Amino acid sequence: MKAMTFYFNPQRKPCNLSLLVVMAAILAAFVHGDVQSCPSSSSSSQSNSTGSAESESESGSTSTSKAIKTMKLYSNIERIDRQLAHLGYSPDQDLSQETLSPIDSMHYLGDDAIEAAIGLLLPTVDAKVLDVGSGFGGPARYMASRGCNVVALELQPDVSAKGKELTQRCNFSDQVTHITGDILKDVSNENVEDSESDSKSAPLWTEREQYNMVTSWLVFLHITEKNKLYQTSYDLIKSGGHIYIEDFYRRTAPEGENVNNNVNACGFTEEESTILSRDIYCEGSSLHTREEYIQALEEVGFVNVTFVDMTGSWSAYVKARYTDFLEKKDSFVEIHGMDGFESLSHFFNAMNTLFHGNNLGGVRIHGTKK
Ligand SMILES: C[S@@+](CC[C@H](N)C(=O)[O-])C[C@H]1O[C@@H](n2cnc3c(N)ncnc32)[C@H](O)[C@@H]1O
Repeated sequence: MKAMTFYFNPQRKPCNLSLLVVMAAILAAFVHGDVQSCPSSSSSSQSNSTGSAESESESGSTSTSKAIKTMKLYSNIERIDRQLAHLGYSPDQDLSQETLSPIDSMHYLGDDAIEAAIGLLLPTVDAKVLDVGSGFGGPARYMASRGCNVVALELQPDVSAKGKELTQRCNFSDQVTHITGDILKDVSNENVEDSESDSKSAPLWTEREQYNMVTSWLVFLHITEKNKLYQTSYDLIKSGGHIYIEDFYRRTAPEGENVNNNVNACGFTEEESTILSRDIYCEGSSLHTREEYIQALEEVGFVNVTFVDMTGSWSAYVKARYTDFLEKKDSFVEIHGMDGFESLSHFFNAMNTLFHGNNLGGVRIHGTKK
């Protein structure tokens, strides 16, 4: 909340009583938090395309990929290797997509969420897909297992490298190309070298109108420059192709209902705004409402935009995930140590709090390029 200063000038004529009462009421409202500004909008630090503030001395994808590490889900990535070792796999041993699936995904509802995107491609799934924010590559490998050729674009170098290694061990390298980069910064630079692409004869991954589908699971929430993001995605998709996004959105009260009085100008409580920016690397002020989301995609040219509200099932999912995690504390600590447990527990608790506060929603949204 921005600090507000009230000046008292003894030279002035005394105010009338009703004016004083109104001023006292406004002051009381600020003190009790009923009237609040959006915390992120009062930030004096520089904001970048992906989530929160970045230092002025560093710029571009490197500083962004470092800053995003504040999210505890993205630290301690050795947990993948430890889990595989616990399951009896040696470091170079071949793996299957099915083995990795419960370990390598950072979205909700497992492979069903990827099937929902593949449904847009049916009856043919032999498609070229760009998966934005591919994480450890779980969705990309699943799509490959269903016949797609996938460019898996990931901002964080260590996460991207682990994804590439897992893809090699699953023998999907012919179908999944891992690229380390930032969807906004790299695509806007048309001269970018595709140095990390394994397939030299393939077109640059940034070349326009080459994908049958752009997908993204729980990534757009990190990126504040939404319109540029939608336009970039639109430009990359072929005519007749699709966009499929799983994301957070800002819920609004149905007409006439006052769900929560304590929300700030961003539509979240102070606690929720803090959790979003501190633990999830997400600025609440950048999240769309349902109407804003549909309108923004339509404005760049997508048609048949479909908004599927996932709030109920995602709330149940994050609650069960947190409860289950706490129940299995001892075995988790045995494999990953107490620091690893506390770190993930903090993150799972944060997500559970957010999804049970009425103001954060989950969505599967997709549209088509004419
Ligand atoms: C919640 S994870 C989801 C990973 C993956 N989609 C999955 O479902 O397993 C979000 C990922 O998006 C990546 N990301 C965030 N901003 C990005 C950007 N501007 N360009 C590319 N990747 C980005 C993060 O580094 C992180 O790995």
